[in-house]
Amino acid sequence: MSDTLLNLIACPRCDKTPLEESDGGLHCSACKVDFPLLDGMPCMFAEPESSIGEWRGRMQFALQQLSQESATLDSELKNKDLRRLTKRRLERYKAAVDQHRRALQKLMQPLDVQSYTGSHESYLAMRTRLPVDQGLNTYYANVHRDWAWGDAENRASLKQIRAVLHDNASLGNVLVLGAGAGRLAYDIHSELDCSCTVALDFNPMLMLVASAMVRGDKLKMYEFPIAPKSLEDDAVLRTLQAPEKAGDGFYLVLGDALRAPFANQSFNTVVTPWLIDIIAEDLPVLGARINNLLKDDGRWVNFGSLAFSNPQRALQYSPEETKGIVAECGFSDPYVAEATIPYMCSPASRHGRREKVFSFCAYKERQVDRPARHRALPDWIVTGNEPVPLTPAFRTQAMSTQIYAFIMSLIDGKRSLQDMAIILEKQQLMTRAEAEPAIRSFLTRMYDDAQKQASF
Ligand SMILES: C[S@@+](CC[C@H](N)C(=O)[O-])C[C@H]1O[C@@H](n2cnc3c(N)ncnc32)[C@H](O)[C@@H]1O
Repeated sequence: MSDTLLNLIACPRCDKTPLEESDGGLHCSACKVDFPLLDGMPCMFAEPESSIGEWRGRMQFALQQLSQESATLDSELKNKDLRRLTKRRLERYKAAVDQHRRALQKLMQPLDVQSYTGSHESYLAMRTRLPVDQGLNTYYANVHRDWAWGDAENRASLKQIRAVLHDNASLGNVLVLGAGAGRLAYDIHSELDCSCTVALDFNPMLMLVASAMVRGDKLKMYEFPIAPKSLEDDAVLRTLQAPEKAGDGFYLVLGDALRAPFANQSFNTVVTPWLIDIIAEDLPVLGARINNLLKDDGRWVNFGSLAFSNPQRALQYSPEETKGIVAECGFSDPYVAEATIPYMCSPASRHGRREKVFSFCAYKERQVDRPARHRALPDWIVTGNEPVPLTPAFRTQAMSTQIYAFIMSLIDGKRSLQDMAIILEKQQLMTRAEAEPAIRSFLTRMYDDAQKQASF
C-alpha cells in the first residue's frame, strides 16, 4: 500500500495510525483486528468481517431476486397468447437478466469469500450496521451515468465544484465521502490540482466498478432504465470505461463515512457529493466530523440536493439553515452556488430529473469538538439486558401488528373482505364500518407487495 494512503488511514475503532501492513491488508495491533483488501481496496469497516458478510448477504439476495425474475419470465413466456412483440421483449429481457446475474456475480467475486462472516454479536457490539434502505442496487443507475452515457451530467457536476472553488487554489489531500461509482472523485483528481484523492463509500458493488474503471478495465453491464424509450430500451448492454486510468495518488477505500477511517486533521479538502441529505446522521454532527477530518484552513466542498430524508421534519433543513449549521460547525460562512443541472437522464429512458443543486465551499476557521463515535443502535438492542422502552410509536405498532396478524390469519380462501369485517366487529376490535376500509387498505398493501417486481 502506498505510504501516502497508509499515513491517512486510521483504525475506525480506536483511531490508531498508522496501521501495520499485514498479509493482504492492514492490521490494528491495539484492537487486534485485520482490515482485508477487497480487489486492492482497504476494507476499513469497524467490524470488517461482519460488514463484508452483510454485504455478501445482500449480494446473494440480489442474485436470488434475479433468478426469481428469470423464472417468472420463463413462466410468462409459456403463455401461448403472447403478442409477437411482447414475446420478443420478454425473451430479450430474460436473456439480459440472466447475463446481468452472471456479470454481477463476476464483479462481486472478491466479496464471495465465506470466511467473511463474523459474529452478529460483535457486529452489534460495535454499534455499526448498514442502513436498511441501502441495498446493493440502490444506486446501480449511477454506474451507467458515471462510466457510460453521462458525459454531460458528469461535466455539469465538475463545473459546480469549480464554481465554488473560484480561487482555483490547490486542493491538497482530498477526501470524497460517499463517492459511489467514483466518477466525480476521478474527475476532481484528473482535472483539478490535488496532491492525492481518496474516494470512500460503503457499497462494495459501486466501489468494485470504480476499482475496475480507475485501473483502465472495461466492463459490460446491463442498464435497466425505469421508463424505457422503446422496446429494446428496457435492458441496454453498456460498456463502462474511464477515459483513461486514474493518475497516481488516487485511492479507493471501503468504509462508513460516519466512522471515516482516517487520522484527525489529515485532509485539505473534504467533498460531500449528494450525501449530506441522505446520510443517516444529523447535519450538525456530520459537519463536526468533517471539521475534525480537515486540517486548519481546510475546505468542505458540498454538491447535490437538499432533500433531507430524515423523517423528523425539524431535521429537514432549508438552504438557509444548512448555511447556518455549516458555520456553527467551525466553518466560514459558506460560499454558495446554485444551478439547475440534468440528473440521471439516461438516453434510453423517458424518465430523468432536472435538479437545482446546492453547492458550497466553506473554510475551516476553528476546530470543534469531535462527536462521539457514531452508534447506529441504542444500548437496549445491543446489550439485550436493558428494558425495551415502551415508546408511543412501539405501542401503536404493537396494536396494529396484532390486528394485521389477525387479519392475515382470517385468510382461508373462503372468507370475503366483508366476512372478515364482521369477525373484527365481533372481536370488538373495530366497528364493521371502520373495519371494512381498514382491511381493504391493508390487503391492498399486501396485494401490491406481492405484485412488486425486483428492480435493479
Ligand atoms: C446519492 S449517492 C451519491 C453517489 C455519488 N456521490 C454521486 O454523486 O453520484 C450517495 C452515496 O453515498 C453512499 N453512502 C451513504 N451512506 C454512506 C455511509 N454512511 N458511508 C459511506 N457511504 C455512504 C451510498 O452508497 C452512495 O454511493
